[in-house]
Amino acid sequence: MRAMNYRHAFHAGNFADILKHLALLAALEALTRKDSALFFLDTHAGRGRYDLRCREALKTGEAAAGIGRLVAAASLPPLAQRFLTLLRGFDPANADDIVTYPGSPLLAAAVMRPQDRAALCELEREEAEALRSELRGDRRFGVHCRDGYEALGGLLPPREKRGLVLVDPPYEEQEKELLKVADALVAAQQLWPTGVFTAWYPIKLPGATRRFHERLRTAGASKVLVAELCVHADDTRIGLNGSGMVFLNPPWQLDEVLAATLPAVQRAMQPSGEGRTRVDWLERKS
Ligand SMILES: C[S@@+](CC[C@H](N)C(=O)[O-])C[C@H]1O[C@@H](n2cnc3c(N)ncnc32)[C@H](O)[C@@H]1O
Repeated sequence: MRAMNYRHAFHAGNFADILKHLALLAALEALTRKDSALFFLDTHAGRGRYDLRCREALKTGEAAAGIGRLVAAASLPPLAQRFLTLLRGFDPANADDIVTYPGSPLLAAAVMRPQDRAALCELEREEAEALRSELRGDRRFGVHCRDGYEALGGLLPPREKRGLVLVDPPYEEQEKELLKVADALVAAQQLWPTGVFTAWYPIKLPGATRRFHERLRTAGASKVLVAELCVHADDTRIGLNGSGMVFLNPPWQLDEVLAATLPAVQRAMQPSGEGRTRVDWLERKS
């Protein structure tokens, strides 16, 4: 019996993935502006590549309402345009529709340079095997079938001074996992103070986001950038109203790039005008 119900194939390419992957792309682009080698740690990596024509994607229709709408948007800011160009590169034969959607590991692989290195953790054996076969032959990548939280302690600090850690769990128990993520980010930053740390989080339950941010503050996080994109009001009972990313020690000007990108992306994702975006800094604890 599966201990975990979550399968990312149902959600790949949805509006939450778009926020996450735009922010990831912007951060990696910023970090690769300097020549020195980077280390990328993806604690919850998934299978790497998703076929948007598969039964799971068609069943939820989330990709159609996410990447499907982004592709159809009339004009987009430069980061979103570069994102679409990258996506089209994964499957040039279907470049108009985008039926192949890259997960965070393949997106990183497209931006990383020969001197960079990545460790990708995925707990589900089948997903980890799929990821391993995606990246077979690419010596920059190590795929680990292991618990991503435990890997933070095991793999940090890396030999590289610079790099990025992405924490992107399934949040099957939302409140509990939000607090676990906040604590894990702060503990990991203490192991590797020069690293950039980011986590994706769902916006579903009123108050949960506030408690997550508060936990980051009380755990001692400083300089936390918040980027959120919602397609519904924060407190509807629809399910996923939106999602966010927190960045500890974000690259220079990431806030400006995201602020210049998210409003147009949000409008593309939600033509009715419902929802909102946010890009700002968590206030320091006084
Ligand atoms: C949201 S998906 C990841 C998507 C991926 N980061 C991307 O952007 O393409 C979460 C993944 O974490 C895996 N997972 C769940 N618990 C885990 C754990 N404790 N350690 C590592 N992976 C885990 C799930 O099997 C699932 O594939």
